[in-house]
Amino acid sequence: MDLFEYQARDLFAKHGVPVLGGMVAATPAEARAAAEKLGGRVVVKAQVKVGGRGKAGGVKLAETADEAETLAGQILGMDIKGHTVHKVMLAQTADIADEFYCSFLLDRTNRTFLAMATTQGGMDVEQVAEETPELLAKIPVDANVGCDAAKAAEIVAAAGFPAELAADIEAVLQKLWTVFREEDATLVEVNPLVLTQGDGATAGVIMALDGKVSLDENAGFRHADHAELEDKSAVDPLEQKAKEKGLNYVKLDGEIGIIGNGAGLVMSTLDVVAYAGEAHGGVKPANFLDIGGGASAEVMANGLDIILGDPAVRSVFVNVFGGITSCDAVANGIVGAIKVLTDRGEAITKPLVVRLDGNNAVEGRRILNEANLSVVEMVDTMDGAAARVAELAAR
Ligand SMILES: Nc1ncnc2c1ncn2[C@@H]1O[C@H](COP(=O)(O)OP(=O)(O)OP(=O)(O)O)[C@@H](O)[C@H]1O
Ligand SMILES: [Mg+2]
Repeated sequence: MDLFEYQARDLFAKHGVPVLGGMVAATPAEARAAAEKLGGRVVVKAQVKVGGRGKAGGVKLAETADEAETLAGQILGMDIKGHTVHKVMLAQTADIADEFYCSFLLDRTNRTFLAMATTQGGMDVEQVAEETPELLAKIPVDANVGCDAAKAAEIVAAAGFPAELAADIEAVLQKLWTVFREEDATLVEVNPLVLTQGDGATAGVIMALDGKVSLDENAGFRHADHAELEDKSAVDPLEQKAKEKGLNYVKLDGEIGIIGNGAGLVMSTLDVVAYAGEAHGGVKPANFLDIGGGASAEVMANGLDIILGDPAVRSVFVNVFGGITSCDAVANGIVGAIKVLTDRGEAITKPLVVRLDGNNAVEGRRILNEANLSVVEMVDTMDGAAARVAELAAR
């Protein structure tokens, strides 16, 4: 789960990473009130989960609360790379002497954590990686050790940060690692990490001016407080409903509903259906749905309910390979599911193509035949069923 900048800022503050005061606002009036609380002079920042906000005109300096209100009015509702701005963050301003970059992330390819750092902050790190890779330090971080003092010093040395800043940057790196570890993140990125200038207490300080954090949803059970970070408005309503029923469902943009047992089978079903669809006007899978091992009538009914509730769906492919759960149990599940839905008054009008194979397939097919359901058609092979369901969707 990717967080908004203001949520990342709050997590940084919670773990002692130096940040500036910031507040979030959804209207120009709220922005004015927030700017007044923060001292008048603020940066107004679009809160969208996409990079390059500054260049798109989504980060602007306001000298007064008045101006913050005006700028918020311009930025709210703006479209940044297909993301509508619904909220802005008002942040206190820093007088910047230098901008750096640092991040911790999960490096799946190398099966480790990775720290990245460069003195070339403020710009796209992808651009640094491409144009001046020698300026981007990449240091593996052992999961059992983490970013301790020695690791932080190694990162600072590899990135070539100024010696007089080493101690401060090392301290911030260790705090960012705490965020990464304690919050079960897969990414913690700061761009820019700045050195402030000017006079007074805020000069010569290292702070995080922008933050990007992705949390590992698989660790959600350890973090009751993470649930509220989810952006409910951005979740597809069908995906939300599926989540509530404990189904592994992902909405796609085609016309053919897909149900299968086992993630691998469903993935290959998507490929086979997309391929078959090419011969029928380019119809495509409308979703991914893995109903897992059980495939009871209830799970099947919940799955069918979600898929048939998608107005884009024109036909449905139920692709089951009986393993531990045998095909007769699945066939009974399908019959039961159709009865459950019909009893609920949700008469099924979209055609279902069912392919049963594997453990006890013959008995499964017999059960479905005997049930004599007008919307159900059986095809014995996966390719044959894919071709048929595509044909039905194209009608
Ligand atoms: N609070 C602040 N005070 C002063 N300057 C700021 C502040 N926040 C951001 N800036 C300046 O604006 C630039 C862009 O800000 P920021 O990094 O937050 O957005 P961005 O990089 O455009 O967005 P993204 O990181 O999503 O690509 C920073 O590099 C920094 O120079
Ligand atoms: Mg940035």
